[in-house]
Amino acid sequence: MSKDRYRQRYHLSPPYGFMNDPNGVSFYKGIYHVFYQWNTNFPGEKQIHWGHFSSDDMINWKHGKAVLAPVDWYDKNGCYSGSAIKYNDKLYAFYTGNVKDEKNIRSAYQCLAISADGFEFEKYDKNPLIDGAPKGYTPHYRDPKVWLDENGKGFMVIGAQRENRTGTVVLYTSTNMLDWKFKGEISDKKLGFMWECPDLFKLDGHDVLIFCPQGLEPEGDLYNNRYQCGYMVGNMDLENGKFDSGDFVELDRGFEFYAPQTVSLPDGRKILYAWMGMPEEEDHPSVEDNWVHCMTMPRELDISRGKLIQKPVGEIERLKENKVESGPMEIREGHIKIPEFAGESVNIKMLLKNKGAKEFGVYLKASNDLQENTMIKVNSDTNKIELNREKSGLWGSGIRRAQLKSADSVELDIYLDKSSVEVFVNGGEEVFTARIFPSREGICFGVFANGGAVEMVKGEKSDMKKSINF
Ligand code: FRU
Repeated sequence: MSKDRYRQRYHLSPPYGFMNDPNGVSFYKGIYHVFYQWNTNFPGEKQIHWGHFSSDDMINWKHGKAVLAPVDWYDKNGCYSGSAIKYNDKLYAFYTGNVKDEKNIRSAYQCLAISADGFEFEKYDKNPLIDGAPKGYTPHYRDPKVWLDENGKGFMVIGAQRENRTGTVVLYTSTNMLDWKFKGEISDKKLGFMWECPDLFKLDGHDVLIFCPQGLEPEGDLYNNRYQCGYMVGNMDLENGKFDSGDFVELDRGFEFYAPQTVSLPDGRKILYAWMGMPEEEDHPSVEDNWVHCMTMPRELDISRGKLIQKPVGEIERLKENKVESGPMEIREGHIKIPEFAGESVNIKMLLKNKGAKEFGVYLKASNDLQENTMIKVNSDTNKIELNREKSGLWGSGIRRAQLKSADSVELDIYLDKSSVEVFVNGGEEVFTARIFPSREGICFGVFANGGAVEMVKGEKSDMKKSINF
């Protein structure tokens, strides 16, 4: 079997080592930048750098050298997550310096590094900007996300843990990006023991806070992953530092989706990248090829239909080739394999219309005998849709479900890569993201119906081109 058979074709993955959160996602001097948490020393002791991908079109990416290394007293145990924005014509990268002393006691320092070209960064000589956590908080105090308002005033949100072991987000303000003033907590929602990777922004006239609360208990179909990731929509009063919001909603309904970060593009679009991983997951089959994890595709966000909608960015269309169509066809009780939709790194779009089936859906990345498969299944009694990876292959198991309004017809936009699946349901109303590692010839695709019929009104498949320089 070839080496590195799980290497992603069009999802950003590290050339070697361990990838986690996207950092400093930005568009600067005509170039898109996605930095990321890169443990270059995996599986040895963590040495977290900021790795770097750059692109001039958001689809063809180059991996460059690490831009931040954990070599200073204030970041010696890791240049942790953070964000980047243009300020005074430079790119300012804010991150958390993680430090552990001989007794393994942690300190968190908020730091700055500055670049004139987006490729070479110099750490600020008066780091740290924020020296430790203020009174009332533990050293779990990290992941600064910074933005400027229209008057050039700076804001920073940081994920925090209170001394009573509950999570929250705190706000800082600045007039020069160097001196930061603590404003206080923006939310008092009770959700878990720590909130990681906050991101607060305006979208379609609303304020949105995305964050990753750790420590929520599963509730039926909700909160089934190790840690959660979601958003609250509301109204942010920046003067008083208070975010009046609705409830927490999970952003993705699959298995691996964490620590997302957004960027606003000059054309007004709001783009999100997330880590297609989950903390403490380190045992993927790709370990034998000395790399672990990847990013999601870039997704465009909007708020409509009462929720945050995610769609692949338009640029992704340019990665598609060899389009084939199939359908309409009716599948009665049983399944139909669609050989022309088979493939390792492909996009499959289809509209399924229920014609009396109790359950219907598709299987993907299945072996020839279908023993191994990943399923997307809709139940017309409960109107639930599920991603089932109980038999996906070498790694992973479990089922994740989301509630649909109706199961009369379901639109699926499925992106498969060598070792992942992203399913955009009904134009991005729900998204399921997961890593899967088919063990054998797993490239088969088909449609099935149980207890009645389903019609594939129209289906199409495209091959996805390679988008990374290694
Ligand atoms: C989230 C996270 C962040 C932290 C980083 C360390 O996955 O734990 O809170 O900054 O990863 O790599």
